Amino acid sequence: MKTVGILTGGGDAPGLNAVIRAVVKRSIPRGYRMIGLRHGWRGLLEKDTVDLDAKAIAGILHRGGTILGTSRTNPYKSADDARRAEAHFTALGLDALVAVGGEDTLGVASKLSQAGFPVVGVPKTIDNDLSGTDTTFGFDTAVSIATEAIDRLHSTAESHDRVIVCEVMGRHAGWIALHSGMAGGADYILVPEREIDLDAVIAAIERRRVRGLRFSIIVAAEGALMPSGEIAKAAGTDAFGHVLLGGIGERLAKEIESRTGYETRSVQLGHVQRGGTPTAFDRWLGSRYGLLAADMVHDRAFGMMAAYRGGVFAPVPLATAVAQLKTVPAELIDLASTLFA
Ligand code: F6P
Repeated sequence: MKTVGILTGGGDAPGLNAVIRAVVKRSIPRGYRMIGLRHGWRGLLEKDTVDLDAKAIAGILHRGGTILGTSRTNPYKSADDARRAEAHFTALGLDALVAVGGEDTLGVASKLSQAGFPVVGVPKTIDNDLSGTDTTFGFDTAVSIATEAIDRLHSTAESHDRVIVCEVMGRHAGWIALHSGMAGGADYILVPEREIDLDAVIAAIERRRVRGLRFSIIVAAEGALMPSGEIAKAAGTDAFGHVLLGGIGERLAKEIESRTGYETRSVQLGHVQRGGTPTAFDRWLGSRYGLLAADMVHDRAFGMMAAYRGGVFAPVPLATAVAQLKTVPAELIDLASTLFA
């Protein structure tokens, strides 16, 4: 009997359990033994596995997070770990591995595949910044949560005549900010792809005041750059060398208040955007990705990632998907600005 492993790596995303469930449901009737590697690549380094039978995946479709756990472990951070990961792949008797993750997890999957291991990828990130696919699961849920928060901020901002800056996730790409900002009717949207123009933000706030509207909502991606090029960050970096972000909303709020005199608050949505029940779309998308990944394993389409492009599900090379991040194009930012205050 062939053994297929599945792991979920990087930040969690609503819809991960839908992927796990679909891969297992598609593969067991074909005679595969399914195992889960716990906490992403750490499970491979520690040979920490769990059997995935019908019982293990029962009742998980609507649940947020991942039943397998996740981590930002990078087995290619040291030569020793890389050797251990590759040796454990063989020792676990894996005939194939399905890696579900974003740029970092799939970057590792791509390296393993180049080293000759049978790996298949599934694109996951709430940030929606993976190339090779139109949309990643988790993004729709994150945008829905952020939009609901922006809706709620409107009434309290209005009651107090305040400016509120809502900071959303998005390290290198402003997709969550752009979509939730448009859906929530933000007066200005700030994304990592474009340096913050404080004068333009303040002009938008003032335009509303002139029209008698005494409150404003600004949506800012956590990776938005201050005019100095400085990025607001918390302490430290993760195993893939990414700076931990957070704080641009607070920085901006202080700046706006000191320059306009209007009372300004900030809200950092943070991990609320990643938690809880996936939307129907993310459950569907995760399920479709999982079904395709299982078929790719069966067809031995290794070194490929399940992708959704132009309404069609089909594999694309892993190397293409991780070569470059999918950021927000300048023309889309300009188009969205038509809707600003
Ligand atoms: O999943 C990607 C992401 O959501 C980024 O937008 C954010 O910077 C990061 O995860 C936060 O990661 P962590 O959960 O490790 O703090």
